[in-house]
Amino acid sequence: MKPIRTARLVLRKFVPADASRIARLLGDPRVATMMADIALPFDERPATQWMKSGWGDLRLCIERDGESIGAVSYHVYIGGQAGIGYWLGHPYWGHGYAFEAASTVVRNALIYDRVQMFTSGHFADNLASGKILTRLGFTPHGRRPLWCAARQEVVDSIAYHLTRTTAGFGPKRRSWAGVLGFHPVFNGWTSA
Ligand SMILES: CC(C)(COP(=O)(O)OP(=O)(O)OC[C@H]1O[C@@H](n2cnc3c(N)ncnc32)[C@H](O)[C@@H]1OP(=O)(O)O)[C@@H](O)C(=O)NCCC(=O)NCCS
Repeated sequence: MKPIRTARLVLRKFVPADASRIARLLGDPRVATMMADIALPFDERPATQWMKSGWGDLRLCIERDGESIGAVSYHVYIGGQAGIGYWLGHPYWGHGYAFEAASTVVRNALIYDRVQMFTSGHFADNLASGKILTRLGFTPHGRRPLWCAARQEVVDSIAYHLTRTTAGFGPKRRSWAGVLGFHPVFNGWTSA
C-alpha cells in the first residue's frame, strides 16, 4: 500500500523500527487508559504485536514530519461492518491530527473498500474522542460497559455508528473479494 498524504500527515503501514516510539507513546497511561485493549506496562514486545495488521485489519501509522505520532485503524467484519479506532501520543494532542487522519481513512474506506457501516465508541470520560466521532458524522446509539485493560476495571462507554448513507455515499455492491474478506483496493488508495 502506498502511503496516504493528508494536509499535514502521512498515513502508512507500520515498520519494525516504529516499535520503540509506539511502546512509549501508546504505553503512556494518558493514552492507554482511553483505549480498551492496552495492558500496562506496554513495552516493545506488545507494541510490535499491536502494530501487526491481522486478517481484515488496516492498521496505519500516523506520521508527522517523519516521526510516528499515533495510529488509525479499522477492522472489517464479513458483511461489511467495520470498527474504527485511533490514538495520538500525548505531545501531539490538540492540533486536530486525529480528525485529519480518521476523516481520510473513513472517506477512503467508503470509496475504495467494502465497508458498509462503521462502528466506534469511546469511554464516557473521553470527551475529545466523542467530538471527533461527531465531527466525522457518527451518531451515538447507546452505552455499554467495556473492560479497560489499562485501568483494570469496567468503564462506561458510548457506542457510535456511521452508515454509508449518513456519510453521503450510496449503497455499495458486494464483490466476491469483499465477501471473502480481502481488501482488494488497498493498493489503490489515494490522498484525500
Ligand atoms: C482522542 C484523541 C485522539 C484526540 O485527538 P486530537 O487530534 O488531539 O483532538 P483535538 O485536540 O483536535 O480535539 C478534538 C475536539 O475535542 C475537544 N477536546 C479536546 N479535549 C477535550 C476535553 N478534555 N474536553 C472536551 N473537549 C475536548 C477539542 O476542543 C476539539 O473540539 P473541536 O473539534 O470542537 O475543536 C487524543 O486525545 C488521544 O489520542 N487520546 C488518547 C487515546 C484515545 O482517546 N483514543 C480514542 C479512543 S476512543
